[in-house]
Amino acid sequence: MTIRTVSTNGVAVIEIARPEKKNALTAAMYTAMAEAILAADADASVRALLIMGQPGIFTSGNDLEDFMQRPPAGADSPVIRFMTALSECGKPVVAAVTGGAVGIGTTMLLHCDLVYVSDEARLAMPFVSLGLVPEYASSLLVPQLIGHAKATELLLLGEPFNGERAVEMGIANAVLPAAEVVNHARRMAERFNTLPPGAVREGKALMRRGQRALVKETMEAERTLFGQRLRGPEAQEAFQAFFQKRKPDFSKF
Ligand code: COA
Repeated sequence: MTIRTVSTNGVAVIEIARPEKKNALTAAMYTAMAEAILAADADASVRALLIMGQPGIFTSGNDLEDFMQRPPAGADSPVIRFMTALSECGKPVVAAVTGGAVGIGTTMLLHCDLVYVSDEARLAMPFVSLGLVPEYASSLLVPQLIGHAKATELLLLGEPFNGERAVEMGIANAVLPAAEVVNHARRMAERFNTLPPGAVREGKALMRRGQRALVKETMEAERTLFGQRLRGPEAQEAFQAFFQKRKPDFSKF
């Protein structure tokens, strides 16, 4: 079991639990998460969702081996189903970033509503270093948040950053000691139990409304390029280098 789901006290918890592979996300895990989000959104007893990882790791992003062997194809692919389910979820989604958050581990936070980061967490969006392009509307949302120059450091150079920087950027609410991050995130999620759910839903929809069409369109443009690049020689070199535990060599391209 690599995705655990449990609903208690109004909160649907989606726990990524594959620590031996640093919580790398396979197609099956994306499917499980998409289904859990859709089920929670439709369940009247759930007032908020909580996405969390394991101590020391939130997720290392796409499972590179799974991605190479079964590159996602089209809007029905598990990763796209997950992205759409999360970005269109009508209920508040809280993230407890329990540790490292790479690739979609960071970009999914742009689609959550409250984000709490462990003081041990390192975040990174190394898509370009992997021969890919930014995804999950990060090419739109990150420059909007911090401007083009700062976004270039994170999205083209792939510079890692910590929780404090995530708070400064506006993608996270607070940094907490590693041992407290899940409990704090859970308490925040439970606060929605005392609020009127219809007003919360409509308030969230209004907050996302201005960007909704643009986010969707950007995700589509990114998906096309990402899919092409995934099959291309730059990504193949980057992925092989990762598994061979060596530095990639892009000098020949
Ligand atoms: N896909 C597939 N396997 C992954 C993975 C990923 N995204 N991230 C980690 N793993 C695997 C490693 O191959 C290793 O497997 P092994 O024990 O069979 O050799 C195991 O998980 C442990 O990873 P390791 O790299 O040894 O851990 P670390 O603590 O030194 O580093 C990370 C942790 C997250 C910094 C590092 O694993 C990493 O950079 N992962 C890739 C992140 C990435 O590029 N994601 C894709 C973004 S699109």
